[in-house]
Amino acid sequence: MSIGIDKLNFYVPQFYVDMAELAKARDVDPNKFLIGIGQTEMAVSPVNQDIVAMGANAAKDILTEEEKEQITMVIVATESAIDSAKAAAVQIHNLLGIQPFARCFEMKEACYAATPAIHLAKDYLQSRPKEKVLVISSDTARYGIQSGGEPTQGAGAIAMLISHEPRILELADDSVAFTEDVYDFWRPTGHKYPLVAGALSKDAYIHSFQESWNEYAKRYDRSLSDFTSLCFHVPFTKMGRKALNSILTDEIDDETKERLTEGYDNATYYNRYVGNVYTGSLYLSLISLLENHHLDGGDTLGLFSYGSGSVGEFFSAKVVDGYEEMLDTKAHQTMLNQRREVSVEEYETFFKRFDNLELDHDTDLAGAQKGIFYLDKIEDDIRYYSTLN
Ligand code: COA
Repeated sequence: MSIGIDKLNFYVPQFYVDMAELAKARDVDPNKFLIGIGQTEMAVSPVNQDIVAMGANAAKDILTEEEKEQITMVIVATESAIDSAKAAAVQIHNLLGIQPFARCFEMKEACYAATPAIHLAKDYLQSRPKEKVLVISSDTARYGIQSGGEPTQGAGAIAMLISHEPRILELADDSVAFTEDVYDFWRPTGHKYPLVAGALSKDAYIHSFQESWNEYAKRYDRSLSDFTSLCFHVPFTKMGRKALNSILTDEIDDETKERLTEGYDNATYYNRYVGNVYTGSLYLSLISLLENHHLDGGDTLGLFSYGSGSVGEFFSAKVVDGYEEMLDTKAHQTMLNQRREVSVEEYETFFKRFDNLELDHDTDLAGAQKGIFYLDKIEDDIRYYSTLN
């Protein structure tokens, strides 16, 4: 039985800040951000692109009316929840017009939650060959103006349609998750921004990766030469590279080293221009690999998911022949290329308004794509969404 990702799409807001400009404004050598952290541009959120709007925007163009009838579960993975009780999946289900007899809920474990969501979907679908599950990861990565994490912010959403006979990626039956109680990054209830132990968060990520990979390799008798490419959770592009380099030891042959390194470059191309999208970072990297790297049907990909706190998981998937036809590479490149650069000053204004939920549609919808969903107003603490005509 083959189950996996049948459709895959992402959405990012239409504003970004140049990392060299941000570095200058912070009196930092630009190469620290461009090379040391490995980020070139960073998505900036308009106030009206919350996790519901972005999540619906990621999914809206990939679902047919027939699929909306077949979807019986909608899962939203996020760590930017806008409500402690009501799940964003319920609002997204409504905006997308999915048939009503569906389970809708939110999942949380920092940047990891989309991975248990797709595995849950896979298990759920085993006995339901005609149904489909929509998994969405949607986040606004925010650390605060002039904070240590500021250069690793970003925003965006990924939508994945999980089904039988998938046309992009077949999920294999192998995976190893590793859990460790560590305070590397966390956001106590009521805090606007996460608390982060920067150096510890890098070490905890690498440790989790090594534990997951080593156990996976042992349990399933796999080595790096079995993988065409590896995709990582990418809070910033240098992070996954460090993890990858940590296992490219002297015993690994040069061909494997070169292949995995080249794959990593292409798998982080989009991330470099978007920044951190928390739960979606691994899956943005997957899209980047699929759209910017040569792959063949049957190729095996290794995926490492990580959520601070922490849970890591290594699992594998097989590329389906003809997967290219299921991707809209041109639309993705246009979406990225047509974004508008904002100055550091403008970014700071967006950031403060986002914190205070100060909607300003004239500014926030400038240059936005027609047809997108946006948060229109909040009345009596209820969020109302509209579509841009
Ligand atoms: N040219 C090139 N590289 C430079 C540089 C320069 N002029 N100046 C510094 N660097 C390098 C550093 O050597 C370092 O590289 P290394 O990690 O390979 O040693 C890198 O830039 C970052 O420098 P560092 O001093 O660690 O930066 P920082 O103290 O500002 O913190 C983060 C960086 C990522 C820890 C911080 O932005 C953060 O906390 N982010 C949020 C948490 C996060 O994403 N964690 C990841 C796991 S989920």
